[in-house]
Amino acid sequence: MFISLFFLPILFSFIAIQSYSQDKGKWVVPAEYKTMKNPVAVDASSVDLGKDLYAKYCKACHGKTGLGDGPKAASLGVSSGNFTTKEFKSQPDGVLFYMVTTGKDKMPGFGKPLPEDNDRWALVNYMKTLK
Ligand code: HEC
Repeated sequence: MFISLFFLPILFSFIAIQSYSQDKGKWVVPAEYKTMKNPVAVDASSVDLGKDLYAKYCKACHGKTGLGDGPKAASLGVSSGNFTTKEFKSQPDGVLFYMVTTGKDKMPGFGKPLPEDNDRWALVNYMKTLK
C-alpha cells in the first residue's frame, strides 16, 4: 500500500511526459534517408505528376499552396507544417520522401496508396516548387 502510493505520482508524471513527447515528437528519420539521392530529375513531367497527386491526396490537409490551410486542417488539431518556408525546403529530399512514405500520427503514410517510388519522389519534387 505504502509503496503503491509512493510510486503513483511517479507513474503519472512518466505517462504525462510520454504523451507530451509523442505529441510534440519530431519525426525520427533513419540515417539512410538523410543521404538518399533523389533518383527522379526535377523536370516538368515529374513536377506535373507531383502536382496532380498533391491535389488528389494532400491538398485537403496541406492546402492548395502548402500553407497547411486545407479544408481538413482545422479538424486535425495539429499543424501540418508550411511547405513554403526555407526551413522546410532545406530538408534533404530523402527526408521528405521518408515522411510521405511512412507518415506520423495524423499524417497518413502513402507507401501503400502510392506504392510506386516514382510517384512519391514526384510529390517531393512538387513540394519543393511551392512558393
Ligand atoms: C489527413 C491530413 C493529411 C493528409 C491527407 C496529408 N498530410 Fe502531410 N501532414 C499532416 C500532418 C498533421 C502533419 C504533421 C505531422 C506531425 O508532425 O505530427 C503532416 C506533415 C507532413 C510533412 C512534414 C512537414 C514538415 O514540416 O516537415 C510532409 C512532408 C507531408 N506531410 C507531406 C504530405 C504529402 C506529400 C501528402 C499527400 C501525398 C500529405 N502530406 C497528406 C496531415 C496530412
